[in-house]
Amino acid sequence: MHQSGTGRGMGFRDSCQDLLGFVHLIPARARERILDIAATQFEDGNAYHQYQPLTKKGNMDIGAGFNDDPLWLIAAVSAYVRETGDLSILDEQVDFNNDHKLAQPLMEHLRRSYQYTLNHRGPHGLPLIGRADWNDCLNLNCFSKTPGESFQTSGPSEGPVAESVFIGGMFVKYANEYADLCDATHRANEAIEARNAAQEMSRVILGPGWDGAWFRRAYDAFGNPVGSKKNEEGQIYIEPQGMCVMAGVGVESGEAVKALASVKEKLDTKYGIVLLQPAYTRYHEELGEITSYPPGYKENAGIFCHNNPWVSCAETVVGHGDRAFEIYKKTCPAYIENISEIHRTEPYVYSQMVAGKDAPTHGEGKNSWLTGTAAWTFVNVSQYILGVQPTLKGLRIDPCIPHELDGFELTRVFRGATYHIMVDNSAHVEKGVKSVTVNGKPIQGNVLPLAKAGEQVEVRGVLGI
Ligand code: BGC
Repeated sequence: MHQSGTGRGMGFRDSCQDLLGFVHLIPARARERILDIAATQFEDGNAYHQYQPLTKKGNMDIGAGFNDDPLWLIAAVSAYVRETGDLSILDEQVDFNNDHKLAQPLMEHLRRSYQYTLNHRGPHGLPLIGRADWNDCLNLNCFSKTPGESFQTSGPSEGPVAESVFIGGMFVKYANEYADLCDATHRANEAIEARNAAQEMSRVILGPGWDGAWFRRAYDAFGNPVGSKKNEEGQIYIEPQGMCVMAGVGVESGEAVKALASVKEKLDTKYGIVLLQPAYTRYHEELGEITSYPPGYKENAGIFCHNNPWVSCAETVVGHGDRAFEIYKKTCPAYIENISEIHRTEPYVYSQMVAGKDAPTHGEGKNSWLTGTAAWTFVNVSQYILGVQPTLKGLRIDPCIPHELDGFELTRVFRGATYHIMVDNSAHVEKGVKSVTVNGKPIQGNVLPLAKAGEQVEVRGVLGI
């Protein structure tokens, strides 16, 4: 038996992230799914947290107010357009709140997603968290006192103080991807504006969002930091470390490497990276559901398979191919068959989470199948580790692999052409493309020129200094 999630509707953020893993497989279905999801967005840019895939309507029971949701729409659309080159999707008329009278082009939906985050910022200039962000259980505006009541629906959905550093990181990443789409559709001024806003957010993250050795997680409704050495429990969280570094925050100035070293030191275990440390040992009303779980389980310091790839991706951003692959292997079913008696779930599937080091059953998988891991793992392996990245202009080749690999070969179908890619790592480095040839001819840089549909392309990349 496994929970399908359809009873309560499908998640807006979950469905947007799932798209990252299948835009290349069935682009026509991905296109349809994007338009359905976008139609559940509200005019102010926020969205129903869940929708029913059959009626395609937003789910009133849960409502809205999860302030990461709008930005995931940009992530999904950007992935689709980079993969397919189909800019026409941006002109599709899409309802707001499933109301035809309110229809606007999809590009306008993305603009509202971007604006929503900008218009909902707190005292430090970080995005307001609303009900919660990716971590549904970090409920900073809920203050639930009644056992059994839903943290997702009780309490106010908004608060003017509680902020999320994680959404800040998302904003930097996806405002930049939005800017690329603006450029591609001749909206140069908007592109500049969005890139400036991303840069400004990056500065805020490196200010009040930085704790000295890692990124803070949030600020609570009283303006106190969450995920800080100042806290008694929950001093460091995984999510902002992965997302901020993927977004490029602190990469040049050194904070990114520091944050990832802190993850390794404080959150790593032999079965994967736990969500936070130290685990919460009592209920904190100002933090919500996350502190209602036993230490080591679920969001309270479990190993969430969904966000382990973010850290692996982040390690490739700073050039650590050995570490990125090590993280990948820790939760990957194919690499952990020898611990099946500990892991206990089906040996070929990811679980929502694996019990963390504070749990008596450390290493045991929970809620197999019901996880957003597959899409991010695919993105991690194909785009960050093997480094074959769909961009608006073509495939970019930028691997970050374990240094002992001599190289690799893969075949990638992209916009109808087939690329046979061979990467030579006889230099045994972790990252750095020295030269690329396409059909025997050297090219400038590492973005492959677009081939026509039906063509076969021979690509050879050499890593080294
Ligand atoms: C939800 C996701 C959420 C994750 C972490 C999952 O159960 O479906 O939307 O991001 O938990 O809280």
